Amino acid sequence: MTKSPTMSPPDAARALLNVLLPMAAGGAIARRPRVMGVAQRLDLDSRAVREMQRLRDRYGAGPVQVLPGRGMALVLDPGDVHRVLNGSPQPFSPASREKRGALGHFQPEGVLVSSPEERTHRRPFNEQVLQAGRPVHDHGEHMAAVVTEEVEALLGHVDVAGELTWDSFSRAWWRIVRRVVLGDSARDDEQVTDDLLRLRKDANWSYLKPRRTARTRRFLRRVREYVDRAEPGSLAEMTATTPARPGTEPHQQVPQWLFAADAGAWASFRALALLSTMPGAAARARAELDRLPDLPYLRASVLESLRLWPTTPLILRDTTEDTEWARGTLAAGSSVVIFAPFFHRDDRHVPEAHRFAPELWSRERTDEDWPLVPFSGGPAMCPGRNVVLLLASTVLGRLLAEREYVVEGGALDPDGPVPGSLSPFALRFRTGR
Ligand code: HEM
Repeated sequence: MTKSPTMSPPDAARALLNVLLPMAAGGAIARRPRVMGVAQRLDLDSRAVREMQRLRDRYGAGPVQVLPGRGMALVLDPGDVHRVLNGSPQPFSPASREKRGALGHFQPEGVLVSSPEERTHRRPFNEQVLQAGRPVHDHGEHMAAVVTEEVEALLGHVDVAGELTWDSFSRAWWRIVRRVVLGDSARDDEQVTDDLLRLRKDANWSYLKPRRTARTRRFLRRVREYVDRAEPGSLAEMTATTPARPGTEPHQQVPQWLFAADAGAWASFRALALLSTMPGAAARARAELDRLPDLPYLRASVLESLRLWPTTPLILRDTTEDTEWARGTLAAGSSVVIFAPFFHRDDRHVPEAHRFAPELWSRERTDEDWPLVPFSGGPAMCPGRNVVLLLASTVLGRLLAEREYVVEGGALDPDGPVPGSLSPFALRFRTGR
């Protein structure tokens, strides 16, 4: 039985330095805006993709282990991406050691960190409440009304301030998210999402920070109160009314929905930058606004934002048994890593790698296609994909319906390649009517 290849020590050092460490430094669970600013200035994301191309030239189809033993193995082959994602939860378990360490800070019973047995009921519960397979959720009308109100309030603020900044955008976004997930009365409950943010910062340190703190208990108690309150039109209502087996822990599924919504804010704000910069894009988006809530071009623009700058750059799986690959065997208990930016931005295989190409998303992508996996794939694919695409496209639609936007500071060039990094925290827009 040949063992899967392991990198030479210099290659391992380069992979750690150029690919894995910058991801950890940027904050896996709560982003560190300052580090992301530095990463953008140094163009670290492009460097990481080039490093992965070099590793594939060197090690072929892989996967290649970074260090000897049961360490991390990087996936290098597009077919292997589909294989790993389709093979969840066994032999490729989403509840990796890293995720259990990190997410244990605020959702120890969440589906993502569940055993295969718990997953058999927690995953369907999430799919049912989030209505994973439906482009427009049953609460779509309520969601659209919330978005309309909050974008109106945001634009009132923008008119006074004279520009649209990350701070004002994210404040409005979180009001929307709290209302949609927890209920209208949570609109101004910043404590619940501030507590979550603090816990996510702890989660960046995984096992190195103490868990089950007073803050964890306060946060989960508050979430449970909203579920018990079950305000009409909220996901909390559906959480309370959807049948659950013992051990599903319905209220512990909610933190993931709140936490993951942050990625929706980054993706939307970056999408606004793309739409306001790329020739003809804003006009095309405005032309479909009478079709609300069905906004295919805006959805595709959000997906493009997520392809160009994936918000889950590292998709992690732990192997539950020995697995065979083109170049050899990986032992049970190995960590398998899909570095999404490599597949999304590999200009040797994706002609659109560095340009805004919403047409890539004009149909559902299949396992025959090159892997573009901003929401992962297979049985553990993000069940909130449609909810977040609905919210993001509606927010963008409402913003574009009311104003013109110009990105300040030349962050994007309409004629040049799309940069490898774009920190949403530093984006600012001049607005006009
Ligand atoms: C742009 C925003 C989002 C992106 C890019 C995103 C992406 C992802 C990815 C990549 C995963 C898989 C992680 C893995 O395999 O380890 C995932 C899982 C998940 N996401 Fe999202 N997500 C987003 C927003 C949301 C929202 C808003 C919700 C809920 C309303 C949500 C609910 C979930 C849940 C419950 C899981 C766990 C699925 C499982 O373990 O079976 N996500 N998401």
